[in-house]
Amino acid sequence: MTDTLLRGRLLSFSAQPQDPDDTGAYRYEEDGALLLRDGVILASGTHDEVAPQAGGATVIDHRPHLMMAGFIDPHIHFPQLQVVASWGRQLLDWLNGYVFPEEARFVDPEHAQAMATRFLDLLCAHGTTTAVAYCSVHPASADAYFEAAAARDMRMIGGKVMMDRNAPDNLRDTAQQGHDETEALIAKWHGRGRAGYAISPRFAITSTPEQMEMAGALVAAHPGCHVQTHLSENRDEIAFATSLYPRARDYLDIYDHYGLLNDRMLLGHAIHLSDREVARIAETGARPVFCPTSNLFLGSGLFDEARMRDAGACNAIATDIGAGTSYSMLQTLNEGYKILQLQNQSLHALRAFDWITRGNAAALGLADRIGTLDAGTEADIVILDARATPAMALRMERVERLEDELFVLQMLGDDRAVAQTYVAGRPQK
Ligand code: GUN
Ligand code: ZN
Repeated sequence: MTDTLLRGRLLSFSAQPQDPDDTGAYRYEEDGALLLRDGVILASGTHDEVAPQAGGATVIDHRPHLMMAGFIDPHIHFPQLQVVASWGRQLLDWLNGYVFPEEARFVDPEHAQAMATRFLDLLCAHGTTTAVAYCSVHPASADAYFEAAAARDMRMIGGKVMMDRNAPDNLRDTAQQGHDETEALIAKWHGRGRAGYAISPRFAITSTPEQMEMAGALVAAHPGCHVQTHLSENRDEIAFATSLYPRARDYLDIYDHYGLLNDRMLLGHAIHLSDREVARIAETGARPVFCPTSNLFLGSGLFDEARMRDAGACNAIATDIGAGTSYSMLQTLNEGYKILQLQNQSLHALRAFDWITRGNAAALGLADRIGTLDAGTEADIVILDARATPAMALRMERVERLEDELFVLQMLGDDRAVAQTYVAGRPQK
């Protein structure tokens, strides 16, 4: 197979930048290069270092654009492509009114397959090369999702939601069925190619104690799988969830009781939490997932990033499509910046770009494979153009420093700023 040499401005993080001057946390090369072979980054560095190793490689010159690790979206709903931008309700009404009817359509495998292709097209167009998705309750939706990802050799994680109450008849499994279908999907997909399975009890409201018990058994039996659910997104949700589990100390304790909390657990939203819950999240290593555009869209509340981080939690950041309003991790950072501003927490651009690449990879326990441009890691790469729109180009006339360019991308960028996306070394457009 022919090697590929990408040339451009190279930026890759090795740690979370502590402040805008923390130059030790990243590598930046004005004239950088990446040598790709068989889906892996073989060499990474300055063009002068890498070019002599390139032999007869095909050269693609992306200068003056920035080459970064592909973005990672650790919380998104695959069956909600056609829910995005549905008007006017908060979480529980929005779920019942819009989401459940739409997810019911995924009983049809042909619909699921058609949507899976569109879903991955959208992710790649926005520079996202790995996502962790909820599929619908139907195993065929997870099959469609993983088949489409395998066809592109994309590192995708996901699972069918388990939900056996408080949902329409055509969207409920049973505790046993949810367990058995999840078990079969893990056997079929987890570790096959780049696929990873996430055991997915949707949230406490839609699972009976019997189903939670079965989810706990799956987590114990498959320690290599991720686990994902929703936690404390909305106050009505919290009241309903805790009323269904009266013996739990608080919302988090429901999941804790069934053995779901570990460092592969992704807790979507995690907004309205007691000090006890925050401390317990940090203690178990479970990963809170901040979903800025969704939290603003549904009026859910403001994620307190500093509080979680100070307690020792490893926070992820994600779109949460279809409550989220953009597939773009850049737009997610834009809204995330504003949510943190409201709490006097200033998210600087170096930290922001570390977060959507290496940081989210670390939250998933995958930083040795994705999220950086280090040699030996997988060749998932995004090429960014900070002058992609007239407004960006005009702003860039006054920009001299890397961190200011990144901030322009963070606040003004979207899919138009993505000049190219490589998945396992293959260009997506
Ligand atoms: N809580 C349970 N299910 C969902 C969902 O699909 N979206 C959001 N935002 N919250 C949820
Ligand atoms: Zn969600």
